[in-house]
Amino acid sequence: MTSPQPTDADWWRQAVVYQIYPRSFADSDGDGVGDLQGILSRVPYLIDLGIDAVWLSPFYPSALADGGYDVDDYRNVDPRLGTLDDFGQLVEALHAANIKLIVDIVPNHTSDRHVWFQEALEAQPGTPARDRYIFRDGEGDQPPSDWDSIFGGSAWAQTPDGQWYLHLFAAEQPDLNWAHPEVRDDFLTTLRFWSDRGVDGFRVDVAHALVKDLTEPFKSKTELPRMSESNGVHPLFDRDEVHEIYRDWRKVLNEYDPPRSAVAEAFVPAARRARYASADGLGQAFNFDLLQANWDYAKFRRVIEENLALADQNGSSSTWVFSNHDVVRHATRYGLPNDPTGGWQDGKAWLLSNGTEPTVDVELGLRRARAAIMLMLALPGSAYLYQGEELGLQEVGELPAANLQDPAYFRSKGAEKGRDGCRVPIPWTVGGLSFGFGTGGSHLLQPKWFGQYSVEAQDGVAESTLSLYRKALAVRRGLQTANELTWNDGVDWVLHFTRPGGWQSITNFGEAPVELPDAAVVLSSSPLEGAKLPADTTAWLI
Ligand code: NOJ
Repeated sequence: MTSPQPTDADWWRQAVVYQIYPRSFADSDGDGVGDLQGILSRVPYLIDLGIDAVWLSPFYPSALADGGYDVDDYRNVDPRLGTLDDFGQLVEALHAANIKLIVDIVPNHTSDRHVWFQEALEAQPGTPARDRYIFRDGEGDQPPSDWDSIFGGSAWAQTPDGQWYLHLFAAEQPDLNWAHPEVRDDFLTTLRFWSDRGVDGFRVDVAHALVKDLTEPFKSKTELPRMSESNGVHPLFDRDEVHEIYRDWRKVLNEYDPPRSAVAEAFVPAARRARYASADGLGQAFNFDLLQANWDYAKFRRVIEENLALADQNGSSSTWVFSNHDVVRHATRYGLPNDPTGGWQDGKAWLLSNGTEPTVDVELGLRRARAAIMLMLALPGSAYLYQGEELGLQEVGELPAANLQDPAYFRSKGAEKGRDGCRVPIPWTVGGLSFGFGTGGSHLLQPKWFGQYSVEAQDGVAESTLSLYRKALAVRRGLQTANELTWNDGVDWVLHFTRPGGWQSITNFGEAPVELPDAAVVLSSSPLEGAKLPADTTAWLI
């Protein structure tokens, strides 16, 4: 397939999307925080990497109570990160390089500094200004229900006048009331605002939480259905009515040529995911199933089959992701000892235990991560990559407590380490004050070992992980077509399939080398042993 053209309405279906966490990518002004001009200066790197699109995590004005997912103003740029003019320059540079741009939109909650929430606090209980959020009276000095916030502690915070407001995440992230017409209208304005500025698509944060059934009396948390069995009846998540909102959004997204794309972050059972990915809704939804699967042949096979079938059913395309800004980097997860969950604990993928730190087998983790990415890039559908994974970067487990920023750490009173370890600014050079990130240090402390993972250390080195990603993306670009995949069954621990054009991908999850099929090898994630595929290795053949 040739690279997607700007007028191609389906560009997202087989795209490789590279997630940039703006504050940790490149810092142009030496304040220790990454910014838009920093990203702009690295566009040549993105071109060399061979991606189709960039997904920018929030760059909006924010007090950073949750890494920017607490938005003060949805239609502006955080002054520490730049200006709307810088944003325009970035769009222009990416488009000139035929790279699309997706931005994050955070509709479930604003920040507590948002003008609406400030108005709500100044207003009296029961006044219209409070209706844009979810304010309730408590029971004496107790909150209206015993619900927990996803980051720990109560999901309700009390205002000085005694009322409580709901926040599914941090207290600085009050949940919006999506029954309010002004809330609905304002997000349509925001979609248009960024679409008018050339944005090609949106990543929709907690897309499954917007509509809530707040009929009282509230059920206790012990009576709430498990998410895996919620089936549209949970009061807080994945209610069928949420799709009315996305049907309105789709109409706006379709006002543009090409229509703007959208991908839902919706933690719902696989069978309910299709609703978010429907053509009259957002169009695509993340599937975190591979991310949650340990390095295990049977799980990978089941997840791939299930998701390809689901995507076919609703005319969408699958999404695949191993790492993002919320989870322990997969090069580290795959090196954790005897971890039956691959680093995914109780549905919270970002946790490394805060007690006895597990020893990570870095070599094994990287070897498997390289095999995994080649497997993923050979699958039909779009592949979402997270900055630094192309360097084989490991999670930073040793951040000192005083440097941690994640509300999950604070709200759990330190019981959970949080997600900062995957958000440390990435290393560009072998040495220097912040390994080339900027000239003024780094807001999350980079460890000494970062230099060996830097772009400088890997650029032009044939066996480096960066070279592997560049080669794999170039080969994929020439071969990736529609959704077809044929399984080649053989040994139980070998995942082998063929794509149109005779492109084969074969991964050995077992311990012993296996025979390779009789075809030309175009790329392998680790050196082959003669005509054999070693353990924890993927090869592509034609
Ligand atoms: C999901 C985002 O990926 C995460 O980083 C954030 O903390 C929550 N949504 C709340 O916005």
